[in-house]
Amino acid sequence: MHDELKLLSGAMVTLALATSALVVVPFMQLKGVEPPAGLKPYTSAQLRGREVYIANGCIYCHSQQPRDRALAPDDKRGWGRASVAGDYHYDKPHLLGTMRTGPDLFNIGARQPSQDWHLGHLYQPRAYTPGSIMPAYPYLFEVKDKAEPGDRVLTLPPGYEPPQKIVVARQEALDLVTYLQGLDHTYPVFEGKTK
Ligand code: HEC
Repeated sequence: MHDELKLLSGAMVTLALATSALVVVPFMQLKGVEPPAGLKPYTSAQLRGREVYIANGCIYCHSQQPRDRALAPDDKRGWGRASVAGDYHYDKPHLLGTMRTGPDLFNIGARQPSQDWHLGHLYQPRAYTPGSIMPAYPYLFEVKDKAEPGDRVLTLPPGYEPPQKIVVARQEALDLVTYLQGLDHTYPVFEGKTK
């Protein structure tokens, strides 16, 4: 009986320590963090695009967390300053990511603002980056004989248009690109400000 009590109390202490280190302390540290002045809340189109980003597993290959200069040359790669907690104020859930099979996208809107480029790249990454291992997302587009009013027709590099047809972006593609164009955290931050 004595040993079981010891085992049980040991387990409870370990659990309590882990909970406070991983849940309670971070919560206390971050609960007062304000969004930086330059960060805007997402628009409804951007939020829809964010859902498309999640649904298509972009997070499996793309991070959204440039690291500090002391840890990695992310700023030299053109990915921007190290992110701070406040940058993620409107991100629920956050999309930090753990893999970087492709580049970090935290500032892709600043780096690549062109809607044409993004739409074409999603339709066929290899049309823009020869040898790219990013998958194409053809189901976000429609291949048609001719455009109808209101259609967003893609301008693809020569040789990538389907013969005698046109490629039109579906709403999901337009929303996703609106989200990507909005990923711009290049405003200045000093410290993670707390109340
Ligand atoms: C299998 C891994 C993989 C997945 C999944 C993936 N990508 Fe990529 N992505 C890459 C790679 C590799 C590159 C670099 C080559 C290129 O430009 O195509 C890239 C490049 C990009 C770029 C250009 C980045 C830059 O700095 O120029 C954007 C934007 C992008 N991906 C968006 C997306 C979106 C949106 C999704 C989800 C719909 C997605 N990717 C899914 C691997 C991936």
